[in-house]
Amino acid sequence: MDRTTVADARREESIGKQVRLQGWVRTRRDSKGGFSFIELNDGSSFGNVQIVAEGALPNYESEIKKLHVGCSVTIEGEVLKSPAKGQATEVKASNVIVHGWCDPDAYPIQKKGATFEFLRTVGHLRPRTNTFGAMARLRNQVSYSIHQFFQEQGFLYVHAPIIGASDCEGAGELFRVTTLDPAKPPLLDGKIDYTQDFFGKPTFLTVSGQLQAEIFACGLGKAYTFGPTFRAENSNTSRHLAEFWMIEPEMAFHDLYDNMTLAEAFIKRIITDALAKCPEDMQFFQERIDKEILTRLEGILKTPFLRVTYTDAIDILLKSGKAFEYPVKWGIDLQSEHERFLTEEHFKNTVILHDYPRTLKPFYMRVNDDGTTVRAMDVLVPGVGEIIGGSQREERLDVLEERMRETGLDPAAYWWYLDLRKYGTVPHSGFGLGLERVLLFLTGMGNIRDVIPCPRTPKSAEF
Ligand code: 4AD
Ligand code: MG
Repeated sequence: MDRTTVADARREESIGKQVRLQGWVRTRRDSKGGFSFIELNDGSSFGNVQIVAEGALPNYESEIKKLHVGCSVTIEGEVLKSPAKGQATEVKASNVIVHGWCDPDAYPIQKKGATFEFLRTVGHLRPRTNTFGAMARLRNQVSYSIHQFFQEQGFLYVHAPIIGASDCEGAGELFRVTTLDPAKPPLLDGKIDYTQDFFGKPTFLTVSGQLQAEIFACGLGKAYTFGPTFRAENSNTSRHLAEFWMIEPEMAFHDLYDNMTLAEAFIKRIITDALAKCPEDMQFFQERIDKEILTRLEGILKTPFLRVTYTDAIDILLKSGKAFEYPVKWGIDLQSEHERFLTEEHFKNTVILHDYPRTLKPFYMRVNDDGTTVRAMDVLVPGVGEIIGGSQREERLDVLEERMRETGLDPAAYWWYLDLRKYGTVPHSGFGLGLERVLLFLTGMGNIRDVIPCPRTPKSAEF
């Protein structure tokens, strides 16, 4: 007999079919009539299917009545119309095979109401819980939508390297990649001699695939990357990971406004698909995590994103009369309290802030005619803050070289990036979406460690 998923067995169309289900027991309860109900889940859907196991089964007393949460089983039987409320079907078992027992007293995740903090200590078991099952399915759907969105629009999927020699964001939050012996590295004039290292120079885990995406956009039109990126930010916040996944589209002949339009369509597509393709999982987040989430997301789909300059945003903050922890003045890097005030209190909407001071932003952003601001944009959403950072890129060779020197970079080390401006330069733009930030936004979950399979944060790299 072919294997059937729990998701299929729960559908009305399956009534009358013989099925073979394989998964994990969520609960078992025994009826006075001498039979048992088993709730079975196999990850294919949020909901379980109810199995009815009758006392006449040969292993009823010896095995079935000892089943507990966590046991793994194969169940063969017939799908019937369920007399119970809230479920279309149930499965009458003709055969129950136990694969793995699970001691209910020792099983760490058997208790209801385990905190997310606790579940992080058993990250290898947490996918078996409702929340992390729902998250895994949603994350999968979002990843699929992302590829579909760009593929339908003719973007090339480019695999950016994980190891590189440049610091794209210029923030110095780099993890070094080396094969030198840390106990006795080769020295030259008292300093580590990286010419003897594996790549013959200092190398790091990438903080962004943008520069490589630009190589392909500036030759083939539209490209996107989707891969892991790494930042040695020692900020232990609920919004930062040391390893996170980023999607970075890059488009030739697109200006900052085209970039904003694409970012808005992109986020709206992700929301639309999440609501349409994961309704049960989204319903769970609504009921258990954030009671406002569905209304908020539906509201965002209906309204255009606002576009506000950094300078106007500073004015709004100054006039707000609020006492912020970080005082506001033109030129400051906006803190999460400022971003949240703008999206949650002032505009009550998604806002694209643009044209930031040049001193705040990396070398590659196009300098405006005023000389003091650059063509940057950040997409800020209620509840999370920044989920996208992007810009129009500096396509003028001389200005780009000047910006590199100004931000302490050696243009010679970026000779290949400068070549893109030397030979057939084009106006172009792009942005980066943090996958985990968008998952926080979609679910209302409070901590970024709970939206990635295996979180990497300061002092934590278990599992
Ligand atoms: O604003 P960021 O640093 O921009 C870039 O890396 C550009 N190269 C993108 C581009 O223009 N191609 O990062 C982009 C997004 C942020 O808006 C945020 O969503 C996410 O990446 N992000 C992080 N997510 C989790 N943990 C961290 N430490 C993150 N740092 C950035
Ligand atoms: Mg940013």
